[in-house]
Amino acid sequence: MSRLLSGERDDDLNQAARHLCAGGLLAVPTETVYGLAGDARNESAVREIFAVKGRPLLDPLIVHVSDLQQAEELAHINEAARKLADAFWPGPLTLILKKKPEVSGLVTASLPTLAVRAPAHPVMRIILERSGLALAAPSANPFGYISPTRAEHVEDSLGDQLPYILDGGACEHGLESTILNLSNPQWPEVLRPGPISAEALTATLGVTVKAHEAKPSDNQAQLAPGMLSRHYSPRTPLALCESPHLQLAANSERTALLYLCRPVNAVRAHVPHEHLFWCTDSDSLEEAARELFALMRRLDKAGYARILAERAPDTPLGQAINNRLERAAAKGE
Ligand code: TXA
Ligand code: MG
Repeated sequence: MSRLLSGERDDDLNQAARHLCAGGLLAVPTETVYGLAGDARNESAVREIFAVKGRPLLDPLIVHVSDLQQAEELAHINEAARKLADAFWPGPLTLILKKKPEVSGLVTASLPTLAVRAPAHPVMRIILERSGLALAAPSANPFGYISPTRAEHVEDSLGDQLPYILDGGACEHGLESTILNLSNPQWPEVLRPGPISAEALTATLGVTVKAHEAKPSDNQAQLAPGMLSRHYSPRTPLALCESPHLQLAANSERTALLYLCRPVNAVRAHVPHEHLFWCTDSDSLEEAARELFALMRRLDKAGYARILAERAPDTPLGQAINNRLERAAAKGE
């Protein structure tokens, strides 16, 4: 069992920072999902991150920094990166940039580029500041499973492997950061859709940012290592459809229907309540995104034979949600 440290207690924050400085690992809250953090410059800490997650070494890590100045120690900051960092950091935007030689190839899976972001969560910012470290941190889930959005999710799946989990409450966005490839600033491209849309990035840059194209069957591991098609997956088979209740056959008593927002009365009247789940009572997609992974984990534990999930509307945030649901539904790596 991990020890839970409180993001509200000064002693706990100091202990967390000291533990990282000593080369230890720690689960930390960010505004997107919880991360599994270690000193990015300490090879044995980085190796341990891969080992704890069961993550293949070919899948590179994101390095978290306090600000652009610290990012500059690790990567070549071009003009486009400067503009975007000014506009969106600290926040849920990861930039892929040409790396500097001091970054170990272990962190980047031998790629010439580095993924870097300055997170906004106040607890994570205190840890970055007090440790003075750049922190390598993938999402704190076993490789291929659903990202954690609460401290107890980390405890559930990695609790026996981590000495500490720093609790910073429920994550604000609930979806991982937007990843933007800026290694060629003339052709910026979203590799993973997230809370910050391609439209918002385009507006700030004044250059068209190519949106992420859904290619669920692709296995483009080297091009965009995070894009392995099966990812974020519950153990329970999951399918994605427009209107889950229409797919509920007569003999499907072990099926869970997962809606983003509260379904309309007609659906609630016709589907027995033990089949019916939704992320939020509100009609806010932001709120649904925040709760989605928690509900997927809950349903995965509940012993259903399958989950039918509602496809999100085709808005920028809806596309980011659908990207996670499509991966959860994909079969095989
Ligand atoms: O919101 C987030 O980004 C969270 C929090 C903890 O910051 N982190 C996160 O890390 O989602 P992770 O490792 O689960 O996902 C990062 C993705 C991986 O899929 C990885 O393949 C991709 O970023 N990535 C890392 N470095 C890359 C690079 N140089 N080029 C292309 N993709 C890269
Ligand atoms: Mg991940």
